[in-house]
Amino acid sequence: MNDSYLNFVNSPLGARLARSLGWPLPEVLRRYRADRPEFDGLVAIGAGREPRLLDALANLVASIGVTSVAHESAGLWVPLATRHGLMTGRFEPAEAGSPGKLAALLFDASGIEDSSQLAPLHGFFHDTLRSLGKCGRIVVLGRPPESCASPRQWTAQRALEGLTRSLGKEARRAITANLVYVAQGAESGLEATLRFFLSPRSAYVSGQVVRIAAGGFGGHGDAGGPDSPNDAAGAGVPTTPAFDWSQPLAGRRAVVTGAARGIGAAIASVLAAEGAHVIGIDMPSARDALDATLRQLNGTALAFDIAAPEAPAQIAAALDEQGVDIVVHNAGITKDKTIAKMTDAMWQSVIDINLSAQERIDDALLAAGILRDGGRIIGVSSISGIAGNLGQTNYATSKAGVIGRVQSMAPHLRARGITINAVAPGFIETQMTARMPLTLREAGRRMNSMSQGGQPVDVAQTIAWLAHPGAAGVSGQIVRVCGQSLIGA
Ligand SMILES: NC(=O)c1ccc[n+]([C@@H]2O[C@H](COP(=O)([O-])OP(=O)(O)OC[C@H]3O[C@@H](n4cnc5c(N)ncnc54)[C@H](O)[C@@H]3O)[C@@H](O)[C@H]2O)c1
Repeated sequence: MNDSYLNFVNSPLGARLARSLGWPLPEVLRRYRADRPEFDGLVAIGAGREPRLLDALANLVASIGVTSVAHESAGLWVPLATRHGLMTGRFEPAEAGSPGKLAALLFDASGIEDSSQLAPLHGFFHDTLRSLGKCGRIVVLGRPPESCASPRQWTAQRALEGLTRSLGKEARRAITANLVYVAQGAESGLEATLRFFLSPRSAYVSGQVVRIAAGGFGGHGDAGGPDSPNDAAGAGVPTTPAFDWSQPLAGRRAVVTGAARGIGAAIASVLAAEGAHVIGIDMPSARDALDATLRQLNGTALAFDIAAPEAPAQIAAALDEQGVDIVVHNAGITKDKTIAKMTDAMWQSVIDINLSAQERIDDALLAAGILRDGGRIIGVSSISGIAGNLGQTNYATSKAGVIGRVQSMAPHLRARGITINAVAPGFIETQMTARMPLTLREAGRRMNSMSQGGQPVDVAQTIAWLAHPGAAGVSGQIVRVCGQSLIGA
């Protein structure tokens, strides 16, 4: 769908007018394109006391081929950074006035154990933020607070959330800011997640907090033991198979429901571009569009109403022979009315399609072993499921249920190395949102740190990261794709 305001304010006349009237000035987001380098530019790295993720950062910098400069706010860690090969240069605070110099800011706060040790965060971002270019990236790394050995460490680590979310709101210029909590022992599982948050693939993901756990599990409330050797959760969990970063899903089979159009078609397309064979499911009434989408991707089209009682068995039978590695529950509907005016049928159809069908399909695929060990289940929730929404009691109930399902199922799936996560989109430009009344649509578009709606590809790229073989430590998580929406923040 077309956001004509975004186009207008990015013209010379529109920009002048918007500036003089104090209107929002959304940037055109830099999204991933196969014909452009995914990573380039200079990354400034900062750290608090005793940073514990420098090895992982050094591997990442080498692997994505960016140049990094170290910032000396913590002083003591710089010799360490040199040893790890991170100190390829030094960030000079005098450069703070040169906008656009930096592509990303990375801060390792994993060693911070007390609120009195938070000051280097101020030093680093104070010096560097103005040098971060448009569409830049901020990633803060810490330890999961609930795994910390002392209340003071928990407190200091939890404080990082406030900092990161505020940076996202303050930075503007389409800059994203996200926080990654890395459990002890999970360092080797950091790369896929860091790549995502540093890449243009995460253009519309900001203000998020993601946990990576050791041994292929990152569940919500995963107390997993303190920052101690006991934290090696997941012994016996299947290890991550080898993969190629350019085609990480090669050899994998992915099912996507609601694949005929909108976000589902984008998910199918991104997963196929990453190498997966995609099996798209949609309503028999959407058969033509479904066939057209899947034909382009060399995928397989299955026309089923996922809410029909016989659908789980039919889908399982269709997938049985070769099994499946990734299941994306994207199909969803809205039937909006305030609850006093909502009929039983409006309530029930939304719960059936958006929630119960997911449970029944997963149960069928898991019971028969059709979803293979090491697999991925990804639900599509919504920020309405987090914040609630007027006229959407049925929809918000179903989408909050998707979150509950992710959190409750993650521990059960861990032994098989299967992760389960959900994305919670905010305002995404699709036929669903095109039907909204104009004023609500405009409010939905502007009330976020990017001052614009997201595109289906933004949701799809986030799902591709969760489906990635390197994201085995990410499970039980809800990741909002909402440009840091003010709703439900
Ligand atoms: N667009 C947004 O802003 C937004 C925001 C938050 C969440 N979401 C969620 O994202 C998902 C996709 O949304 P969209 O905007 O692309 O919607 P859409 O209406 O454009 O597409 C939904 C697809 O699901 C299919 N579908 C519906 N019921 C089905 C059934 N019973 N069986 C099989 N297929 C069925 C439809 O035919 C359609 O192809 C939905 O779950 C939606 O709730 C969207």
